[in-house]
Amino acid sequence: MENFNFYSPTEFVFGKDCENEVGNYVKKYGGTKVLIHYGGGSAVKSGLIDKVKKSLDDAGITHCELGGVKPNPRDTLVYKGIDLCRSEGVDFILAVGGGSVIDSTKAIAAGVLYDGDFWDFYCGKPITSAMPVGTVLTIAAAGSEGSPDSVITKEEGMLKRGASGDAIRPRFSILNPALTQTLPPVQTAAGITDIMAHLYERYLTNTKEVEVTDRLIEALLLTMVHEGPRVIADPNNYDARANIMWAGMMAHNNSCGVGRSQDWNSHNIEHELSALYDCPHGSGLAVTLPAVFTYVMNHDVMRFAQVAVRVWGCQMDFANPEATAMEGIRRMRAFFASIGMPKTLAELGGREEDIPALVRTLCWGGGRNGSISGFVTLNEDDCAAIYRMMLK
Ligand code: NZQ
Ligand code: ZN
Repeated sequence: MENFNFYSPTEFVFGKDCENEVGNYVKKYGGTKVLIHYGGGSAVKSGLIDKVKKSLDDAGITHCELGGVKPNPRDTLVYKGIDLCRSEGVDFILAVGGGSVIDSTKAIAAGVLYDGDFWDFYCGKPITSAMPVGTVLTIAAAGSEGSPDSVITKEEGMLKRGASGDAIRPRFSILNPALTQTLPPVQTAAGITDIMAHLYERYLTNTKEVEVTDRLIEALLLTMVHEGPRVIADPNNYDARANIMWAGMMAHNNSCGVGRSQDWNSHNIEHELSALYDCPHGSGLAVTLPAVFTYVMNHDVMRFAQVAVRVWGCQMDFANPEATAMEGIRRMRAFFASIGMPKTLAELGGREEDIPALVRTLCWGGGRNGSISGFVTLNEDDCAAIYRMMLK
């Protein structure tokens, strides 16, 4: 295991109706004037925004609002949010929504205290200070409620990039699984896929002797395999929603990624897809993971065989571990399809003629030098081959 420092200061408030306490948590963390940031309308329609406002009013906290965050959130609204926070004298930002809303909130929080262009943080500058942020989560997926990360798309050139820093970890996150019961099935399934991808991206490591984190990841993957179909069959299953919601947080606050190298090639490859085709991130991952894993499998075939046996119930073929590893990837892909995720890039609108542009932005955009690195290093030819594998 490698040396590590694990810092996860977010207070999690979990369970039925806990969103009604949001005003008290804002107060606890020093907010006096709040920007409520939300998405395209689901939180308004469900009455959640009204509940949040009431709770803030009851706690004597003034507020203003900015809705309209799109999935795969854009830089243009971040600039608007920064201006609004400055003109209104906001001192706390509350995200009410999913990963897109939370990431937009984090970008505003970092940008508002920074003299330069907030996009600098998405080109590699670490975020060291930010306005405090809290969240009321409405979808189990990105794990942004407990992560130090934010992913934003620059509209000019549709460049999707991430930024990081402990300063943007939420002060608190309110997780009521019942709030996710209104999700359209495709978003529930995309969330499940994203959570599993966060686990896999950590599982694919070059660090040896990481039994504890391997076993944690396997446990969370098994949970998703168990709970995923239950929640797809019955969207109102509170207990399945609750297990998925907490798994989503644990998958990405890095408690099961410490002390080990991680991958993230699949996420980088996917981010180009959701930027170009504006598809849900999880749908993009459902077609990305099987292709990437098949392509890189021989780098450490025993690792893929291990997850095949321990998570996907495959029989270990000691004479032919490649066959076991491949069977695990096949079962993972079938699982994603069974919960309603696409199997091919074509289903997301992907076309062979887009591949050169996808590869160029992936390998060169935002200051990259012709390749991406994680579990293995992938150059332009590798990435083109992987995108081609996804087509059918
Ligand atoms: O905008 P509204 O109307 O709210 O609709 C949203 C949106 O259309 C809808 N939705 C959310 N909660 C709902 C609901 N509809 C009905 N009922 C509810 N309770 O779902 C759609 C998707 O929402 P979004 O926030 O985009 O989903 P998600 O949480 O999957 O976030 C995706 C974004 O997070 C980034 C992704 O790249 C993508 O941009 N990621 C962020 C990470 C991080 N910050 O740590 C890590 C991830 O790997 C990921 O890259
Ligand atoms: Zn993700």
